[in-house]
Amino acid sequence: MTGRKSFGSDNHTGAHPAVLRAIMEANAGDAVAYGADEWTGRVTTQLRETFRADGGAFLVLNGTGANVLGLSVLLRRHEAVICAASAHINTDECGAPERLVGTKLLTVPAPDGKLTPELIAGQLGGRGDDHFSQPGVVAVSQSTELGTCYTLAELRKIADFCRASDLRVFLDGARLANAIAYLDCSLAELADCADVLTFGGTKNGALGAEALIVMGAGLAADVPYLRKQQTQLTSKMRFVAAQFGALMRDGLWRDNAAHANAMARRLADGVLEADGVEVVYPVQANAVFARLRPRHVAALQQRWTFHVWDERASVVRWMTAFDTSTADVDAFVADIRSTAAAR
Ligand SMILES: Cc1ncc(COP(=O)(O)O)c(C=O)c1O
Repeated sequence: MTGRKSFGSDNHTGAHPAVLRAIMEANAGDAVAYGADEWTGRVTTQLRETFRADGGAFLVLNGTGANVLGLSVLLRRHEAVICAASAHINTDECGAPERLVGTKLLTVPAPDGKLTPELIAGQLGGRGDDHFSQPGVVAVSQSTELGTCYTLAELRKIADFCRASDLRVFLDGARLANAIAYLDCSLAELADCADVLTFGGTKNGALGAEALIVMGAGLAADVPYLRKQQTQLTSKMRFVAAQFGALMRDGLWRDNAAHANAMARRLADGVLEADGVEVVYPVQANAVFARLRPRHVAALQQRWTFHVWDERASVVRWMTAFDTSTADVDAFVADIRSTAAAR
């Protein structure tokens, strides 16, 4: 750590003060455990109504747990998941879907991290052949791991294709808020394109709160049991609910995401003209992916925290968060520009 603002991840940031206040307020006396408390009741009703999710909202502790739970709700035992090769479920969850759900991931190299009906169709060859794991679910991330967003039209196309092809849609929304802020649409409009989705709080100001949103009432019956089996039913659920309560109040979740996105935009614009810096994906959420000369990456890492995304291609990832300030971005941009100018 350098003491400066980290551009390493939106997980590096602390919790939003309103979230901490809400936790303090919920810390008043005793409350019934395991989600039978008033905070959980209130916020899951609010989430259910906001998403227009007949199956309801279920709070969990982290994104990997939300993904595993969501996939387990949608999959039969012999079924596989089609996803982009860059999907978090494929690259960053230590094989949790394979190990805990017992599924196979059918991964597709996808430009900008986004699937299309054509890419999905290319994975359906083994259908009806009992030697093949049968594709049952398509998993998309919104926003994607590469900082891009599906448009609503793109997602609807995928949803229509999946509904016509007997495939269910799972949406990893660890950064759903950033996508909504970018698209300027409602949570319900986006959720309409999925069967089950996650709504991330942790990267958006919470300190450990994610929600699983189940669109169809018919899918919801098993969720409480699966959540408990998968160790995601926390006893002091009121504190998870209180975090979401704070984010949902007056659209704080949206403001946080819009701010993080604006800081990524500012960063990308700031390096646009810099010689030797190339932004490699469209900047639509709160991440900037850029190619720099390897020695410039090394020099910047002496002073700043960020990830090298692809060492061979010398591509780095810079992430912003709800608490990244314009001064943080401007100082970083100035250093990137002067470092890149040194040949
Ligand atoms: C797209 C996406 N999904 C899921 C997760 C999982 O979150 P967690 O680290 O809380 O398990 C992450 C975390 O970085 C993510 O980027």
